[in-house]
Amino acid sequence: MNTPVALITGAARRIGATIAHQLWLQGYRVIIHCNHSIADAEQLVEQLNRERANSAKMIQADLNSTTEVSQLAKQAQACWGQIDLLINNASSFYPTPLQESTERQWDDLINSNLKAAYFLSAQLAETLRQQQGSIINLVDIHAQRALPGYPIYSIAKAGLQMMTISLAKELAPEIRVNGVAPGPILWPEEQAAVSPEEQTAILEKTLLKRAGTPEDIAETVLFLARQNFITGQIIAVDGGKSLYSH
Ligand SMILES: NC(=O)c1ccc[n+]([C@@H]2O[C@H](COP(=O)([O-])OP(=O)(O)OC[C@H]3O[C@@H](n4cnc5c(N)ncnc54)[C@H](OP(=O)(O)O)[C@@H]3O)[C@@H](O)[C@H]2O)c1
Repeated sequence: MNTPVALITGAARRIGATIAHQLWLQGYRVIIHCNHSIADAEQLVEQLNRERANSAKMIQADLNSTTEVSQLAKQAQACWGQIDLLINNASSFYPTPLQESTERQWDDLINSNLKAAYFLSAQLAETLRQQQGSIINLVDIHAQRALPGYPIYSIAKAGLQMMTISLAKELAPEIRVNGVAPGPILWPEEQAAVSPEEQTAILEKTLLKRAGTPEDIAETVLFLARQNFITGQIIAVDGGKSLYSH
């Protein structure tokens, strides 16, 4: 039986891992891409293969490297000879105050959130076309309303939003391209970590007064993967944060 194959970038942990697991539960064979989180990716792949043999593979690649992005596309196709679904989920996220921001930060944020997604989409277009497949980009509600203190990240996600619309046109009619724009789901780590007080203030600015879950995102991804007449759309999964007006 020819079960569909999904490549999910940045899928060792957090939202990407939940998306991969949900797709796997629906019968997909999954390719888990990671960069630093190799042990987490190996563990996830091992667990999935234990439960269903030959259903998961792992590929490591730094999306800052054009060569590694190309290799990722080639290796992913070589896994099972086809790609039905590309999920551009990988992302770096940290503040870049304008006067202190560096070219290195620009490259890192643009590469992981935008440039790699673009070139992966281009390089996988042929196999996706053969499979009548689709691309789903993990955008952000801050693609439309810039996140203060995070100009480069906001610019990168705004680019990813336009990439979603643009590639929907470029790749039609065979390939659908859509996006999911999460609101507060999982709190950021390390440099971008937010205090409990800031967390409360952020959630207060949602209509539903709570954070979403990685499952909320994964269910929307699944919906977009299955729904065959939607292309060029980005669904906000944000508890109404983008509508909040006080
Ligand atoms: N969390 C939220 O509440 C939220 C809100 C709005 C939007 N989003 C979007 O939803 C998606 C998932 O969110 P998340 O919070 O789960 O993401 P995350 O944990 O911040 O990042 C996902 C993965 O991206 C990978 N990555 C970063 N830079 C990379 C690079 N140069 N090369 C290869 N991989 C790289 C990392 O892989 P390794 O760990 O393997 O290095 C990381 O685990 C992201 O696109 C994010 O922007 C999330």
